[in-house]
Amino acid sequence: MKSSYTQSVKTEIEQDLYYCRELTLNTLAQLELEQFYQQAHPDFSPIGWHLGHIAFTEAYWILEYLGGFPTLFGEYKRLFAADGLPKAQRQNLPSPGFIRDYLNLVRDRVLDYLNKAPVEQQERLWRWLIQHESQHGETIEIILHLLGVRTPQKQFDLPPAVPQMVKIPEGEFWLGNEDISAQDNERPRNLVYVDSYNLDQYPVTCAQYHQFITAGGYDQPHWWSESGWLWKQSHAITQPLYWQESLINSYYPVYGVSYYEAQAYARFLGKRLPTEIEWEKAARWNPQTQQQSPYPWGEQLPDPSRCNYHLNLRQPTPVNAYPLGKSSTGCYDLLGNVWEWTDSDFVGYPGFVSYPYQGYSQTYFDGQHKVLRGGSWATRSWALRSSFRNWYYPSVRQILAGFRCAS
Ligand code: AVJ
Ligand code: FE
Repeated sequence: MKSSYTQSVKTEIEQDLYYCRELTLNTLAQLELEQFYQQAHPDFSPIGWHLGHIAFTEAYWILEYLGGFPTLFGEYKRLFAADGLPKAQRQNLPSPGFIRDYLNLVRDRVLDYLNKAPVEQQERLWRWLIQHESQHGETIEIILHLLGVRTPQKQFDLPPAVPQMVKIPEGEFWLGNEDISAQDNERPRNLVYVDSYNLDQYPVTCAQYHQFITAGGYDQPHWWSESGWLWKQSHAITQPLYWQESLINSYYPVYGVSYYEAQAYARFLGKRLPTEIEWEKAARWNPQTQQQSPYPWGEQLPDPSRCNYHLNLRQPTPVNAYPLGKSSTGCYDLLGNVWEWTDSDFVGYPGFVSYPYQGYSQTYFDGQHKVLRGGSWATRSWALRSSFRNWYYPSVRQILAGFRCAS
C-alpha cells in the first residue's frame, strides 16, 4: 500500500508539472511563426529549440533514465540535446504543432509513469526537471524580449525610492541549501563568516544609472576593469541594452547590463558589487532573531504581494513597489524584478557533487562565469529562492539582469 507521504509528494509533483507546463504551452500558443524559428542572438537558440529541448529532457530523464523505457524519438537526440548541434544550426526545426504534440506525448507517458513510480526515491530528479523547464521558460521570455515583445509599462503611484544603504552586521550564517528542491550548486550548506558590509536597499534605478551615462561613464576607462574596458571598446556600447529614454527619471531598475557595466557603475560611486555570499546573507539572515529563512521575508512561499515574478506582470516594477517583500535586513526586491550581478565567480561549494550530470553546473566552474542572484519578473516560482544561483559570462547583457552595490 502506498504511504500517504508518497501520495502527497506525487500529487504535489503532478500539480507542479501541470502549472509549469501551463505557462510553457501558453507561450507556445501565442508565438508568431517567425518568433518560433528565429535566432534572436548568436548566444541564444530559437524559441522552438527550447521547447523541443524541454520535451527531450523530460523524456530522457524520466522515461529513459528513471523508467527504463526505450528511447522516444531517437532522431531528436542530435537536435535537442544540449550537447548536440551548435546553436547556429538549431533553426531547422519541426513545426510548432509538431513540437506541441511532442511535449504532450512525452507528458502523457510521464504522468502514466508517475502513477506507479517510487517517487520517494526519485523526488530530487522530478524537482530538478520542473526547475529545468522553469529555466528554459525564462530563456524563452528573454528571447521574446530581445525580439521586441514588450508589455506596456503599467503606471505605479509610489513615493520616490530614495537610494540608501543598509548595514549588515558581521557574523556567521549558513550559505546554501540542502532541501530536496535545491540544485547541485546550492549544496552542501556551509557555515561562512562574513565581515560587516553595506548593501543598497534597492536595485540600482534607471534614474541613478542615467547619471553614470551623462557623466561620461561609458567614455572613461578609469571606472572600468581592464577586461571590462576591452569588452566595452570592442562593442561600442553607450547605454544598457534595454535602455528607454522615457524611463531616465524613473525608479524602475536598470537592466540589460553586463557584469562589466555593473562593475563600472559601482566604481563610479566608490562602491563595489556584493559577493554572492553577502547577497545571500542579506536575503536570508535576520539580525533581530539571529535566525535565517529561505526567503527575504521569512518562511512563506513567494506570492504576488511580495515580489514581481512568475510572469505575473511581464514587466519590471519600480524598486520600491513591494514593501511586503522587504528583507529582515531592510532590502527591497531581492527576489524577482531583475536578476542581480554579483562579484563572485561561479564555483562549487566545498564538498560539491554534480547532479544530475556534470554539464549542469560543474562544466561552468571554469573561472569564466559570474553568479547572478534573486530571479527576475520572468523567473517561475520553482526557481525563486534566496539560495538559487544563476550564472553567465560577464559580457552577457541580453538577460533580465541589473544589480545593487555594496561597500
Ligand atoms: C543557468 C540559465 C545559464 O539555460 O544554460 C538549462 C540553465 N541548464 N538547461 C542555461 C540550464 C541546463 C542554464 N543557465
Ligand atoms: Fe536545458
